[in-house]
Amino acid sequence: MIVVTGATGQLGRLVIKYLTSKVEASEIIAAVRTPEKASDLAALGVQVRKADYSRPETLKAAFDGAEKVLLISSSELGQRTDQHINVIQAAKNEGVSLIAYTSLLHADTSPLGLAGEHIETEAYLKECGVPFVLLRNGWYTENYLASVASSIDHGAYIGSAGEGRISSAAREDYAEAAAVVMASEEPQAGKVYELAGDESYSLAELAALISLESSKELPYVNLPEKEFRAALESAGLPESVAQLLANSDVGASKGGLFDAQGELSALIGRPTKNLTEMLREALA
Ligand SMILES: NC(=O)c1ccc[n+]([C@@H]2O[C@H](COP(=O)([O-])OP(=O)(O)OC[C@H]3O[C@@H](n4cnc5c(N)ncnc54)[C@H](OP(=O)(O)O)[C@@H]3O)[C@@H](O)[C@H]2O)c1
Repeated sequence: MIVVTGATGQLGRLVIKYLTSKVEASEIIAAVRTPEKASDLAALGVQVRKADYSRPETLKAAFDGAEKVLLISSSELGQRTDQHINVIQAAKNEGVSLIAYTSLLHADTSPLGLAGEHIETEAYLKECGVPFVLLRNGWYTENYLASVASSIDHGAYIGSAGEGRISSAAREDYAEAAAVVMASEEPQAGKVYELAGDESYSLAELAALISLESSKELPYVNLPEKEFRAALESAGLPESVAQLLANSDVGASKGGLFDAQGELSALIGRPTKNLTEMLREALA
């Protein structure tokens, strides 16, 4: 049995989609915090089990019979290390042959503040002696495309990434890579995949592409971190999210979201989704 945690999330749903094309649905467990949100997953024939990262007793029951576990990192910032440790302990107690963990691109050297909880989780994986593989995911292209409409409305694309190049990829691509690793019959324990898109761009180049595709003049305006954070907050984002996005942009300015090794396209056996095509879909 292959367990996918966080299976009702945006990435998790896509992983289940790809995994059902590789193994029998009856061999997949969708481990979810809120089973009521998973009726579409149950309809695919996968087993839906309740698994709350903060409630170890649910994890023990959810992992019964598991051979491999994909731990999709939690979205609850600040609580993630403890939550991930709960998941890893439960998987270890079940005697799984593999845990795959969705970490952050170049987590061990990343300048992004987000890296902290990923480094702690990776360290626990090493320390506890369970066989594991790291899927170090880069930025989702969707993160940047989410602000296309509001940028066009405001007549500028703002950020703090400076000249930093960003090798983002679609969630779909990271999800397919995770499904490939989970279904693989090749040994995966001990591997570290640095996963990123084939193309890279600066935010000025992204703004120029948006201008071209939307026929609206859209300069890129680079802001100091504090000002960018304040702009995100005044656009209605919660303080913690605004802080995270601004800090991540500064990390990108230092090269933290760049990678040119092509490991993602190699894993999925095709080029990663094209930025221009994704932008056209976002504009449509
Ligand atoms: N690479 C990037 O650019 C990027 C960007 C954002 C996030 N991430 C990371 O990648 C992960 C997956 O991304 P995503 O787009 O799928 O995020 P998402 O749509 O927000 O999904 C997060 C998932 O985590 C689950 N979760 C949160 N707290 C939980 C808990 N206590 N117990 C069990 N499940 C819990 C959520 O469950 P519910 O469905 O019940 O809410 C949801 O299924 C995120 O959680 C985050 O760690 C990466």
